[in-house]
Amino acid sequence: MTMDTNLIKTINKLQDAFTAVGVANPIDLPQITVIGSQSSGKSSVLENIVGRDFLPRGTGIVTRRPLVLQLINRPTASGEVGGVASAEFQGGSGAAGETPNGVSTPPNGPAGGADEWGEFLHIPGKKFTNFDEIREEIVKETETKTGKNAGISPEPINLRIFSPNVLTLTLVDLPGLTKVPVGDQPKDIEKQIRDMLMKFITKNNAIILAVTAGNTDLANSDGLKLAREVDPEGVRTIGVLTKIDLMDQGTDVVDILAGRVIPLRLGYVPVINRGQRDIENKKKITVALEAERSFFENHASYKSKAQYCGTPFLARKLNMILMHHIRNTLPEIKAKIQAGLVKYTQELAQLGDVLTEDQTSQSNVILNVITEFTNEYRTIIDGTSNEITS
Ligand code: GDP
Ligand code: NA
Ligand code: MG
Repeated sequence: MTMDTNLIKTINKLQDAFTAVGVANPIDLPQITVIGSQSSGKSSVLENIVGRDFLPRGTGIVTRRPLVLQLINRPTASGEVGGVASAEFQGGSGAAGETPNGVSTPPNGPAGGADEWGEFLHIPGKKFTNFDEIREEIVKETETKTGKNAGISPEPINLRIFSPNVLTLTLVDLPGLTKVPVGDQPKDIEKQIRDMLMKFITKNNAIILAVTAGNTDLANSDGLKLAREVDPEGVRTIGVLTKIDLMDQGTDVVDILAGRVIPLRLGYVPVINRGQRDIENKKKITVALEAERSFFENHASYKSKAQYCGTPFLARKLNMILMHHIRNTLPEIKAKIQAGLVKYTQELAQLGDVLTEDQTSQSNVILNVITEFTNEYRTIIDGTSNEITS
């Protein structure tokens, strides 16, 4: 995953430069969404991708409001992009431990330091440096809107995580599809959740992680069914198969991976998340990722293709999709810059000699920013075009 740090640098430079010339969010990176049945492991998958413990997980309906998680890249005090090679989705600090698969996993709690923190939209100005407290706040804020008895609400919780080691990117955790109302749930719970999910996954730039437990029948996968409705060509749906460790002896997902069951253009990735017991014992992500790797490498059905299994491969796949997205967006960005340049040059020419000294210096500032940016942009494009296309 050597390209990832470059990818972070490239995108963040572009985004910074655009901010400098006053263009908001030009790259419009895809939102990564998870859908699937209740307790199929959606929150666990997202958390493993981010590489920090902070999401409520567990049996039953735990995720009851959408959680819109914005990862926001912030340089460290020294202005450097974080040094963790594979950090594009991880919220890790530079001191992170790295697994052999290159997924970095810093310890939970305040160890993240001042470089890394979370902020909720509903508590402006409060910095959460302890990720356990972030989880507690998600639980508390869920209960504020939905009560304690399994109620749901389409109103999202907005959480931002600032870190030098992440790509500025949005991930969305969503409630699972259920059919039978329990507790305070409305009679039409199925439709309400469906409508809620649809809002997020219909967007053309949403990448859908359709999560299905490996120990359930793929043909009944609610997540895949819904994904097909909005993405019939399968250009933005990745199948994620969880709970491979819980499959009956002698069964495996090899046929699914080979595309012989329900083919998906972007394919399937089998993963193993932490089980309920692991959650109760507070098993660390590092330890869990190591166990996941070892499982696939030693399992008769998977060992010949272990590099295509597990969370690190899922992260790489997402990375590739992002790179393609950016490559496809670059010509448009370039056109925007050139148009801006022409416009400013014309404006400057029109101002001509009537400029006061003050106005001249202001115009020069704008021009300098653009010139600097254009040079910077050229360096980035030249430096990355090979990498992105090869
Ligand atoms: P969600 O409801 O889809 O968000 O699922 P969660 O992530 O909350 O997980 C539901 C339950 O399944 C929790 O008890 C998890 O520990 C468990 N779980 C999720 N993925 C796996 C897995 O791959 N293996 C095992 N053994 N348990 C898992
Ligand atoms: Na659950
Ligand atoms: Mg969940």
